[in-house]
Amino acid sequence: MAQETYSPGLEGVIATITEISYLDVDHGQILVRGYDLIELARHLSYVPVAYLVIHGHLPNDEELAAFDQRLREDAVVPQEVYQLFQLMPKTTAVMDAQRTAISFLASYEDPAMLRTPTPENDIAMGTRLLARMPVITANAYRVLHDQPVVEPDPSLGFSENFLYMITGQKPDETARRIFDLTLTCYIEHEMPNSTFAARVIASTLSDLYGAVTGATASLKGPLHGGANEAVAHMLLDILEQGGADVAERYILDRLARKERIMGFGHRVYMKKYDPRAALMKDFIPELAKRHPQGEELYRIYQIVEETMHREKGLFPNADYPVGLIYYLLGIPIDLDTPIFLVARTAGLVAHVAEQHAHNRLFRPRVRYEGPRDLHPTQVTVH
Ligand code: COA
Repeated sequence: MAQETYSPGLEGVIATITEISYLDVDHGQILVRGYDLIELARHLSYVPVAYLVIHGHLPNDEELAAFDQRLREDAVVPQEVYQLFQLMPKTTAVMDAQRTAISFLASYEDPAMLRTPTPENDIAMGTRLLARMPVITANAYRVLHDQPVVEPDPSLGFSENFLYMITGQKPDETARRIFDLTLTCYIEHEMPNSTFAARVIASTLSDLYGAVTGATASLKGPLHGGANEAVAHMLLDILEQGGADVAERYILDRLARKERIMGFGHRVYMKKYDPRAALMKDFIPELAKRHPQGEELYRIYQIVEETMHREKGLFPNADYPVGLIYYLLGIPIDLDTPIFLVARTAGLVAHVAEQHAHNRLFRPRVRYEGPRDLHPTQVTVH
């Protein structure tokens, strides 16, 4: 029998071989298809990086134009999706509405395509799903809040359209650029819980929609994507309790109660700075100036960061700056994690396609610590 190894939470376990991305913590680099994600985010917008993640190479002009066109044309969703949102209780979390809509959209695909899990089919369906993700996300929020649906505008690019559908107004260049940068930062990140969930599902030769639906449930958790919303709530809570003057005490009190501070720490980076958090932080002052509470919130942000580093040696992860950036952009907090999912869809599509290209069913074992030798005859039924 093979040597039995157990690593709680699969920490340090190599679960697959991939050509998509790698967190090279020693070199402070997030490798994506051979490029440094931070360099990609500095020089390119979300759409060409999404092409890179999904197709494995950066697009030439023709490929980029065709991909961009697909994302614009495929964005329109069947009207039944909006009816589905209307049927939901208003208390439904946007992420749950999003998860249900992704699953629902599978019904509109060719059943033969769904039954045939080839990388080509995954990429075709996945590109269509990526095109639709901003539409279902913004409009799930809108319908649940009794706001009118905003249909996608094919004259607008991916990020601009997304912000337009969220806020109902066409964003200015600063807002578009910084929002787009956050999407690129979120696009792909090796093997987080949601990507693993997607690959586990795909490994049964189940379809892309099922895999992304499962990944959505994973990403919702506060230890994963849900942290960005928690960050926004925390910063606003500190603002309400007295602002920058009370920020340090607020964190010390929470640490003394052994509470976790959302947006800090990371299973892989551990005590190193997440390069995405460092990049995005640089854009906060520009946005802070445009918001009435922006500068105070940024001061709180810095004090919390300093306190966490001093007290716990922990640095922010990507969710920390994003929580503040989205608030300063006027995005409802309930949309923070759903937006993360929209951005990550490109990465999930790439992983499902790669899983299907070299599939091996995930099926780990357990160390059993329950009882043995019980027999049903020992139980008395009255
Ligand atoms: N706030 C306070 N303490 C934290 C912390 C946080 N955000 N993250 C880690 N720690 C502490 C733990 O209490 C523990 O301290 P101890 O050894 O004194 O008990 C130590 O750091 C190790 O934490 P552990 O839970 O073993 O690490 P992990 O790898 O399981 O956790 C996270 C990784 C991401 C789940 C964890 O850092 C966390 O809960 N962060 C907040 C949620 C978040 O931002 N998630 C987004 C991730 S991208």
